[in-house]
Amino acid sequence: MKALRIHQFGGPEQLLEEDVSLPIPERGEVLIRVHAAGVNPVDFKLRNGSMKLLTGKKFPRTLGFDIAGVVERADKSSPYKPGDRVFAMLPFKGGGYAEFVCVKNEFLCPIPNDINMTEAAATPLAALTALQAFRKKEYLREGDKVLINGASGGVGSFAVQIAKALGAHVTAVASGKNRDFVKELGADEVIDYTTDDFTKQSPKFHKVFDAVAKSSFKKCKPILRKGGSYVTTVPDRRLFCSMMWNFLRKKKATFIMVKPSGEDLHVIADMIATRQVKPQIEATFPMKEGQQAHRMLETGRVRGKLVLTLEEVFPSNHETLPADPPSTAVY
Ligand SMILES: NC(=O)c1ccc[n+]([C@@H]2O[C@H](COP(=O)([O-])OP(=O)(O)OC[C@H]3O[C@@H](n4cnc5c(N)ncnc54)[C@H](OP(=O)(O)O)[C@@H]3O)[C@@H](O)[C@H]2O)c1
Repeated sequence: MKALRIHQFGGPEQLLEEDVSLPIPERGEVLIRVHAAGVNPVDFKLRNGSMKLLTGKKFPRTLGFDIAGVVERADKSSPYKPGDRVFAMLPFKGGGYAEFVCVKNEFLCPIPNDINMTEAAATPLAALTALQAFRKKEYLREGDKVLINGASGGVGSFAVQIAKALGAHVTAVASGKNRDFVKELGADEVIDYTTDDFTKQSPKFHKVFDAVAKSSFKKCKPILRKGGSYVTTVPDRRLFCSMMWNFLRKKKATFIMVKPSGEDLHVIADMIATRQVKPQIEATFPMKEGQQAHRMLETGRVRGKLVLTLEEVFPSNHETLPADPPSTAVY
């Protein structure tokens, strides 16, 4: 099968399409034929080595955390069966930029009928980040006022819709060119960060979600109500220092570290099925053009998500699956 891999840290040119062997599912996993793979900033951070303290230098590495596809093989104990349309966020090992991937049952979720494979692949990591920021970190309640910085990006575009679905009043921060986009996502108010400093608002917000991590707790503290909280997606040393004093403060700082979860993905799938959430995609690329997708995402200006599509490389057809892998698992 084909996969996009890196053999060393570096620029987008390090992303190479290669022939690799078919993965063999272990107990509790199913084999998925990937139709589309979402692209996230963590992918280029892994590629360029800026996360090497966390990842180490193990090569080759197949990038990609978001997949949508069809179950090819599942054992009898799996709730899934061959032919099911599923999507998932993969755990830290990644491996989503590939024609096949093995995924644990607990990370999978059926794709809602309303969306296609590309939209499904755009969803898991970014939507889970937003949901978990509002559900697991500093619970967002109906009627809360939330400010979302970076509202036009991958995480932000889901955050606006999920916050609205949870009943919050949403102030979205985006550049002027994305004003209409975030309004259409449901934002009640929009602040253009290129002309207005959103940290000069009155202290009216229960939550500030800094989806792009371009601000700081120190700057956002004045716009939080007493008891309010600031959640960022990229913690730094200053944030960790602020967190040490949370127990003394009425306004708290924290960060989100997204985790794969089929259960949380079901919540998002329900929001999609009830038309409260719709994945937003700026562009799709065939998998072999993964380098271009990385170049585009690294500009930091993408509206919504980018997705790699695999249909052209390997059309969906059960008959074309390579012979059964010599597996020790029970299949
Ligand atoms: N901790 C976690 O678990 C976790 C999970 C997911 C993501 N992340 C991190 O969160 C960050 C955002 O991810 P993402 O997928 O949303 O990124 P993204 O899609 O690449 O974000 C791009 C968006 O950011 C907006 N933007 C750029 N500069 C801005 C600024 N100064 N103020 C407000 N908006 C700005 C851009 O809009 P304009 O063109 O209008 O400026 C664009 O729409 C990344 O660093 C990612 O690694 C962390």
